[in-house]
Amino acid sequence: MDIRFANAATPKSGALVLPVYDGRALSEAGQAVDTATGGQLVRAMEGSRFEGRKDQQLAVAAPAGLPVSRVLLIGVGKPADAGAERFQALGGLACAALNAAGDKEGTILIDGVEGLALPLADAAAEAAYGARLRSYRFDKYRTTEKAEKKPTLAKLTVAATSAAKRAYAGREAVADGIFLARDLVSEPGNVLYPETFAEAIKALKKDGVGVEILDEKALRKLGMGALIGVAQGSVRPPRVVVMQWEGGRKGEAPIAFVGKGVTFDTGGISLKGGAGMEDMKWDMAGAGVVVGLMRALARREAAVNAVGVVALVENMPDGNAQRPGDIVKSMSGQTIEVHNTDAEGRLILADACWYTQDRFRPKAMIDLATLTGAIIIALGDHHAGLFSNDDELSQRLTAAGTAVGERLWRLPLTDYYDKQIDSDAADVKNIAGNRNAGSIIGAQFIQRFVNKVPWAHLDIAGVTWSKSDSAITPKGATAFGLRLLDRLVAEHYEGK
Ligand code: BES
Ligand code: MN
Ligand code: ZN
Repeated sequence: MDIRFANAATPKSGALVLPVYDGRALSEAGQAVDTATGGQLVRAMEGSRFEGRKDQQLAVAAPAGLPVSRVLLIGVGKPADAGAERFQALGGLACAALNAAGDKEGTILIDGVEGLALPLADAAAEAAYGARLRSYRFDKYRTTEKAEKKPTLAKLTVAATSAAKRAYAGREAVADGIFLARDLVSEPGNVLYPETFAEAIKALKKDGVGVEILDEKALRKLGMGALIGVAQGSVRPPRVVVMQWEGGRKGEAPIAFVGKGVTFDTGGISLKGGAGMEDMKWDMAGAGVVVGLMRALARREAAVNAVGVVALVENMPDGNAQRPGDIVKSMSGQTIEVHNTDAEGRLILADACWYTQDRFRPKAMIDLATLTGAIIIALGDHHAGLFSNDDELSQRLTAAGTAVGERLWRLPLTDYYDKQIDSDAADVKNIAGNRNAGSIIGAQFIQRFVNKVPWAHLDIAGVTWSKSDSAITPKGATAFGLRLLDRLVAEHYEGK
């Protein structure tokens, strides 16, 4: 779908989308359209439940007096509450509705009313951004899809000022990163495994991102025994990929992002049950988001030094696989007793986080991981879990998440939980041995490998894959965390 901006005017063909505010209030441009139709829009609204409340929709087919196929009215609620999220939803809902109806082209005519919560140009840019995000599809493996199921909308025009077009450019860069992350997360395990994942990351070089691939030999030399232990049951050798974007001052400490990239998680010798195991192709979503974020930062030329490190392994059972009870030595020097080979994410992050802080001395380090099933029990699919050793970083992350609609909820880290992973045979064990507070135990384990750096861990297991469509996210890979971290960077780490 091609998105373009044009001067505000009623289109000559295709569908026309208009925002309607609470109480069936049309903007000035909306009123002009209604007048051209001889009052058809107002009549249609008054004869229905449509009142302009957020996310309400009403389609008026082939209105008299206008050359358009249809006018789609979308509610955005009270002007004072109509912020970025509302206009993104408007764009997303418009994209979905026009595709469902079979429209080939559409125009969103963004015009404000008094007391709008954001500048008009931003409202238009947000609508374009929402439409773009909703238009995502992963259909490269569909060869027999019927024409009537395919999206039709080829061209979406946002009728707004040229300031809107400029405001959209930065958002489009972030959307590029989101699409990359969603593509990576959607790929199956037979196609995307550590070597092919690392190859795919090389594409970031074109965006100006430095890409360094550490192969198994290099990882061994670094002493990453925890990561290698997870990988050893797979015929696919592990990789760690380091990405660097240097948009900030030379020599200034970077902000670092670390991603769990288990390209398939069978559980290893502590084998998972069969039901739903196919979901474990997306056990690399943390890594996918880190890669997409690096593209987003580069494409919008963020004034920041940022480092992305992804730990890529496949967790398989095999004659050479790690056994429960095995003791491995991590890069930090600490020994780990592996009580459960299915608690593998924390093992690879132990080495990846240690490596990242040791090499880059970052200002802050944030890891993303589909770490525990327990976080889905605790928070479901509406909040990701946040764990941190730093209150300020926590608050910044939570606020950034609220601003972009990627919600976080902080859970505790304490000595009480920490001592539950003391091992009788080694320095630490990778599970507590009971089902209590599983997500906290996972976070405590990672924290054993974090030094003084302000650090946060996001457990995204519940939010990274969506079973149903929402306004701006089609079902499937969400890339949760990307917009939140982009926002965190923009608000607190750029140009400072
Ligand atoms: N990748 C899983 C966590 C997961 C589960 C993500 C379901 C998404 C959906 C992780 O590696 C795992 O297996 N965790 C175990 C930990 C347990 C063995 C302590 C879990 O959650 O059961
Ligand atoms: Mn696992
Ligand atoms: Zn896993």
